[in-house]
Amino acid sequence: MQKILVSAFLLFLSAHVAYSQTYAKNGMVVSAHATASQVGVDILQKGGNAIDASVATAFALAVVYPLAGNIGGGGFLVYMDAQKNATTTIDFREKAPLAAHSKMFLDENGDLIKGSNHNGLLSAGVPGSVAGLYMAHQKYGKLPWASLVQPAIDLAEKGYPLSWNLHNHAVEMYAEEKTDHIMPSLYKNESGEIVAWGELWKQPALAKTLTAIRDKGQDGFYKGAVAKEIARYMKENGGIITMKDLEKYEAVERAPIKGTYKGFDIYSMPPTSSGGVALIEMMNVMELAGLDSIEFNSAAYVHIVAEAMRRAFADRAEYLGDPDFNPDMPLDRLTSKEFAQMRYDNIDLTKASVSDSSQFGQLYDGHNTTHFSVIDKDGNAVSLTTTLEYLYGSKMGSPKLGFLFNNEMGDFNPIPGYTDTGWLIGTQPNQIQPEKRMLSSMTPTIVSKDGKPYLVIGSPGGRTIINTVFQTVLNVLEYDMRIDKAIEAMKIHQQWMPDKIYYEEDLMSPDTRDILIQMGHTVEARENFGRLMGITVDPKEGYYVGAADSSGPDAAAVGY
Ligand code: DON
Repeated sequence: MQKILVSAFLLFLSAHVAYSQTYAKNGMVVSAHATASQVGVDILQKGGNAIDASVATAFALAVVYPLAGNIGGGGFLVYMDAQKNATTTIDFREKAPLAAHSKMFLDENGDLIKGSNHNGLLSAGVPGSVAGLYMAHQKYGKLPWASLVQPAIDLAEKGYPLSWNLHNHAVEMYAEEKTDHIMPSLYKNESGEIVAWGELWKQPALAKTLTAIRDKGQDGFYKGAVAKEIARYMKENGGIITMKDLEKYEAVERAPIKGTYKGFDIYSMPPTSSGGVALIEMMNVMELAGLDSIEFNSAAYVHIVAEAMRRAFADRAEYLGDPDFNPDMPLDRLTSKEFAQMRYDNIDLTKASVSDSSQFGQLYDGHNTTHFSVIDKDGNAVSLTTTLEYLYGSKMGSPKLGFLFNNEMGDFNPIPGYTDTGWLIGTQPNQIQPEKRMLSSMTPTIVSKDGKPYLVIGSPGGRTIINTVFQTVLNVLEYDMRIDKAIEAMKIHQQWMPDKIYYEEDLMSPDTRDILIQMGHTVEARENFGRLMGITVDPKEGYYVGAADSSGPDAAAVGY
C-alpha cells in the first residue's frame, strides 16, 4: 500500500512540473545563461541577423558560462536562411594535433592508461570555436565582426555578477580537486579568493585575448601573440599543440543531413557529428511504428523508442567518424526510408532485442556542453551546440590568455580494434590520426514546415544528446507538445551497450517500468537527461515560443 501511495505521489509531482514559455514577435535567443541570451537579443535589436546574434551569444557564453561556453573548444552550427529556404552547417570540431597518433593513450601492453585521454593538455584537441564563428560571420553575418565580440569583452573587463549556481560550482570544484592544474583565475577575484555569489567576476586576461580576436578575427587566435602563448603553454605543460597546428586549423562548411517526418523537413549535423545521422535513422523508424495509436510514455512507446535507439547506436559505432578521413561512410543508406524499414522489421514488438558482444557504447551524460537556439525577425534560425567535452574541459589554461582548453581527444576511440561491453569502442572510423576530428554526438537541429523553420532545438549530454534531441523532436512533431512540455517530458536513453534503458527518475510510471522488465529490458533511473534550449514558430501567426530546460538554473529564453 505504502508503495502505491509513494508511486502516486511521485506521479503527482511529475504532473506538476512548472513549465514556462517565452513569447516574442521579432526575435529570440534561448541559451544556458540569461546574460548571453540578452547579448544575442541586443544584437538582433540592433539589426543583426540570427548569425550575428549567435556569434555574440557564443562569445558571451565563453565569458559568463565557462563550464561549456568557450573559445578553447569546438562545436557545430546549423543555419537556415528562411528567405532562400536554404540550410547549411559549420563544423568547428577540434582536431587531433599533428603529433597525435592512434596509440598515444596506451601503455606498453597496449592498455589504456586510465584517464589519460581526458586529463591534462595531451587530451586537448586543436580548438575550433573561433574559426567556426568567424566563418559563420564572414559567410552569413551582417553587422561588423567587432560589434559582435565587443559585448563579451565588456563582460570580461567590467565583470558580471556570479550566479548562485556558478558560485556553488566553483566551491565544489576547488573543494574536490587538486588545484594545481586548474587555471588559477577561474572563478577567482584579484585577491585569489573564489568570487562570492553576486560579486563581479572580472577576467582581464580573457578580455585581452578577446580583444585580439575582435581586432584580427580568426588570425587573432590562430596566429600572432595568442597562438604563440598557446604553443608555449602547451609545451611547458605536457601538451602537443603547436603554432603549426593552430595555423592549419580551418572550420568546414558542410551540407546538412536531411530527413523527413510526416510532412516536416529535419536538418541536422552531418559527421563529424553522429547526431544527425542517428536522429534521422530513428525518426524514420518512428514513422513506421504507428505512433498515432501508441500513447506517449506507455510501455509500448518506450520499447519501440529504445529499440530504435539500440540500432542507431550500433550503426553509429560501426560506421561514423570524420568525413575527411572516412570518405565512404554510407550516410545516404543509413538515413534512407528503406534502411529504416529493415531496422523496423527486425524489432520484436513484444520483447527486447539483445545487444550482443560485438557491441559498442558508453553512457556519458551531464551538462558539460551547451546549446543555444536563435531566430531573427526574418525567420532565419541558428541551432548551435558547443563544448569543452568535460565540465571546464581540461580545466587548464594559460593565465596570460584566460581561457580553458578542451579535453576532446577523449572522444576518439582510444584502443584500436578493442570494443568491450562497457564503454570502449575501438572501431576504425574514429581512431586517432593527426588532424582528424573526433566523432561527436552533438545534434543541433532545425525542423521546417513548408520551407520555414518550425522547431530549433539541441542539448548537451554526451551520447545522450542524440536521444534527448530525438525524443524532443518526436514530442513536438508526433505528440503535438508545447515546446516547454516537450523539453521537460520523460526521456529515456538506450545506446546499444550497455544493454540498458536509462530513464528519468520519477517520470516513468512504475507499471511501465515493470512491463519493460517483463519484456526483457534492464532499466535504470537517472536524475535527468539534457539541458535543452528550444524555439518553435507558430505555424499560423508566425510568433516565436521559446523555452529553456528547467535543469539549467541560469538559462533563459529572451525575446523582443
Ligand atoms: O562531442 C560530444 O559528443 C561530446 N564531447 C559532448 C560532451 C558532452 O555533451 C558532455 N556533457 N554533457
